Amino acid sequence: MSLVGKCALITGSSRGIGRGIALKLAEQGAKIAVHYYQNEAAAKATLAKIRERGSDGFVVQGDVCHHEEVGRIFQQVESEFGKLDIFVHNARTEAPTFYQPAMEITLDKWDTAVDSQAKAFLVGVREAARLMPDHGRVIAITYAPGGKFGSWQPWVAMGAAKAGLEVLCRYFAVALASRGITVNALSPGWIEDSVLNSLPEAVQNSVRNWHQGGWTPMGRLGTPADVGNAVALLCSEDASWITGQLIDVDGGASLMDAHLPLDIQQSTPTRAEAA
Ligand SMILES: NC(=O)c1ccc[n+]([C@@H]2O[C@H](COP(=O)([O-])OP(=O)(O)OC[C@H]3O[C@@H](n4cnc5c(N)ncnc54)[C@H](OP(=O)(O)O)[C@@H]3O)[C@@H](O)[C@H]2O)c1
Repeated sequence: MSLVGKCALITGSSRGIGRGIALKLAEQGAKIAVHYYQNEAAAKATLAKIRERGSDGFVVQGDVCHHEEVGRIFQQVESEFGKLDIFVHNARTEAPTFYQPAMEITLDKWDTAVDSQAKAFLVGVREAARLMPDHGRVIAITYAPGGKFGSWQPWVAMGAAKAGLEVLCRYFAVALASRGITVNALSPGWIEDSVLNSLPEAVQNSVRNWHQGGWTPMGRLGTPADVGNAVALLCSEDASWITGQLIDVDGGASLMDAHLPLDIQQSTPTRAEAA
């Protein structure tokens, strides 16, 4: 699979999952616009790693909560690359900007979540489509459990914002289908080397133990490279008939049933026992 000759913009690729996506696409030959918000040094470090992999690109700053800044990011992509083959919407604001329970959340925090996801994507895809040749790729990084469940109370705004993002993927998939442009959402499970590592040690350990203990059937957390691999698959020509889909990239975590104790779900016989 080669992405030589392709140009990609990945929002929030200074670190975390975005960086994993940037490095994977660069390994396959794509040039990368490395987008960041405040952490220019991290963005430059990502660009250096892209160059180590034999590709190239540039860094671009912008706050995705403001639609004029989203427009400016795409103007810079146009002047540097002249086109855009792959747009990955990945940036997410820091938790304190939106993290508050449903009965208390301020309208500012609600707006930050929605503006950074659904509105940024609405504006971003329309800008991307302007620069995209036929058969381009649009991929939104979501967290689908936040839009399905109601138990993680302070996630209400981001859950709703990500659900909006997922709905937009379906509408844009239809709108851009005649040009062969696919639009899909990927939903990672919990990922190492990401926002997780900024949480208190006790929270990190609790999340790891939960998933290693069986709530992720593959027995580990994901990595930014796991998500990068999934994005690269969607960018391949062979994925040209997949559009408008929400795909879990989570080692099977989304298959677990919260209605049943884990020991009952795990009572699947091993191959040896079944024989
Ligand atoms: N981590 C997980 O386990 C997990 C699971 C499922 C889904 N996801 C999704 O995956 C994506 C990446 O998550 P992550 O954990 O890798 O994120 P992260 O490590 O917290 O990195 C966030 C990225 O977004 C940028 N950013 C922050 N505020 C911004 C703003 N206002 N405007 C533009 N860019 C901004 C940051 O830039 P600076 O470096 O300049 O601050 C950084 O590049 C998110 O959409 C998240 O919802 C994450």
